[in-house]
Amino acid sequence: MSPNIPVIAIDGPSASGKGTVASRVALTLGFHYLDSGALYRLTALASRQKGIPVLEQAQQYEQDIAECAAKLDVRFEGELIFLQEEDVSLAIRDEQTSREASRVAALGAVRAALLQRQREFLQAPGLVTDGRDMATVVFPDANLKVFLTASAEERALRRYKQLIGKGFTANMVDLLKDICERDERDASREHAPLVQDSRAGLLDTTYLSADAAVAEVLRRYQIVSSHDCV
Ligand code: C5P
Repeated sequence: MSPNIPVIAIDGPSASGKGTVASRVALTLGFHYLDSGALYRLTALASRQKGIPVLEQAQQYEQDIAECAAKLDVRFEGELIFLQEEDVSLAIRDEQTSREASRVAALGAVRAALLQRQREFLQAPGLVTDGRDMATVVFPDANLKVFLTASAEERALRRYKQLIGKGFTANMVDLLKDICERDERDASREHAPLVQDSRAGLLDTTYLSADAAVAEVLRRYQIVSSHDCV
């Protein structure tokens, strides 16, 4: 890893608003942004496109899915994401892909295949990244670590609004159930489970607007970067 390039690592459960906060912090600071969850979503989509039964039998196909992860032909262009030159920005956000992503993310070989790829996003002048293991595994030396969360009900509501806004249909009861199941799977898995790193400060956004959460992360970053300069 490059010790002189600053990293802000934001981890947290599904639909906690990490992506919105992280991308806006990156924009404000002029840093690069890595949405690590997108890589797991892309792996799920690429595997499905190859005919692998990701939801039902992810474990049996671990090596094939890891191969899809290693060979992902992906391009990030602003807010758009291309898989083999096809714009999949919307497709990777649907609920089926969300469920599948959480299954492929539990596989050790898949995580290993994506590790170096994520670290390659670390480029000057800095990186803001969000996921589940950014602070614990991928960027353990991050300058600032934030564990961003919100109540499951609030997160389900946010996901609901996001999906409706993108033209998908959605149902609050199913969303809440899915979010709780995904939380459980992410937190209890063997490889890189979702945990708050010992150096990560908690940021509960249940009653906080996105603007306020962004401002709080920037405030914390200002504090750590002024210490780094001393
Ligand atoms: O963050 P997002 O909901 O897009 O991530 C999709 C899935 O990818 C999550 O449910 C989680 O299981 C997995 N993930 C992960 N590690 C990361 C980012 C995402 O396991 N760093």
